[in-house]
Amino acid sequence: MSRIAIVGASGKLGGATLSALVAHNLAPPSDIIAMTSSTPDSQTWAKLSSTGAQVRHARFEDGATFEDALRDVQTLFLVSTPDIALDFGVAMDYDGTAPGAEKDIGRESHHKNAIDAAVKAGVKWIVYSSLGFGFKGGAGGESKAGVMRAHLCTEAYLRSVGAAHGVKITILREGLYNESWPLYLGYFDSRNAKDERDVVPLAGDGKICWTAIRDLGVASALVLASGGIEDGEKEFVGRTVYLSTRPGTARTVGEIAGIVGWERGRGVRVDVVGREEHERYYTEDRGMQRPGVEWWASTYEALEDGECLVDDPMLENLLARVGLKPIPVEETVAAMIKGGGDWKSKQQKA
Ligand SMILES: NC(=O)c1ccc[n+]([C@@H]2O[C@H](COP(=O)([O-])OP(=O)(O)OC[C@H]3O[C@@H](n4cnc5c(N)ncnc54)[C@H](OP(=O)(O)O)[C@@H]3O)[C@@H](O)[C@H]2O)c1
Repeated sequence: MSRIAIVGASGKLGGATLSALVAHNLAPPSDIIAMTSSTPDSQTWAKLSSTGAQVRHARFEDGATFEDALRDVQTLFLVSTPDIALDFGVAMDYDGTAPGAEKDIGRESHHKNAIDAAVKAGVKWIVYSSLGFGFKGGAGGESKAGVMRAHLCTEAYLRSVGAAHGVKITILREGLYNESWPLYLGYFDSRNAKDERDVVPLAGDGKICWTAIRDLGVASALVLASGGIEDGEKEFVGRTVYLSTRPGTARTVGEIAGIVGWERGRGVRVDVVGREEHERYYTEDRGMQRPGVEWWASTYEALEDGECLVDDPMLENLLARVGLKPIPVEETVAAMIKGGGDWKSKQQKA
């Protein structure tokens, strides 16, 4: 018996992974541990329990809760912490070590708590959900995106822990969600006609291999379920792989704006203005907080460098094993703007 624990099981990625494990009969629900920072009296706890999974409490801030929750677990899906504010203002070259400091300062501090606890609890295999930046013909160790710094730092820590303690590791660079286009399109309000802008200023632009959350959940579940299977281990253990759609269907943020304009019946376009004007516009004209805006602005430099133009067949191959194909980003945009619709066929008719 191989128990699989999922961090953030109530969230979008962890939830999609839990659903896929159950829906595709990849693991008996009773062998899945759904981890949550909530408590047994919460609605989250009740909802997770209704899946048949065992629900256990663990908080990133307290490694002891993780160690307790990971008893008798063989495989850990470490979904990264949602606490992005921890990274605001952290220098890009900060590598997660702060001599003399009691705690690291960025999101990696949460991940390190979980990783250290997993080692103490005797977990055999840690699968980490990193992010789909940094593609350089393969998984590079550098990125211009601030959002990637804590992931790279965590990846390095995992490799060192894996080597020191004989724990198997796999790093999944999860593609950029189809569903996250509003964030990339200048924090666009996706509800039809709620965002008044016809022009969205951005620091830069570049092609993105957008990937649906459902597909990431299914692919992540298939990786997790391969634990203990010889071929699965050969395929994933010790590797850093991208779970992402392919360059043939990649779209820039500007192209996404075109789809959004079509769907809402009122055009919207991207204006590439450079980083300084981007930061000025979102802080002064849109009233957003500077630390978060500055942190996110570096994302566009990474896009311009082609970091998210990922060419890895892994996602397609995994989905094909359960008879699925990737959900196109156009379909997701249409669903989010209008609650459904087929952008491509509408465009062909027009
Ligand atoms: N690939 C992408 O495009 C993309 C987009 C956005 C984010 N991400 C990254 O992927 C991660 C997962 O994203 P998501 O979309 O699934 O996020 P999400 O829907 O916000 O879920 C985050 C999960 O974290 C759990 N959580 C919150 N505080 C916690 C704590 N203190 N200790 C332990 N667990 C805690 C929450 O569960 P409980 O409330 O039940 O504890 C929740 O299930 C994010 O954290 C982010 O780093 C990736």
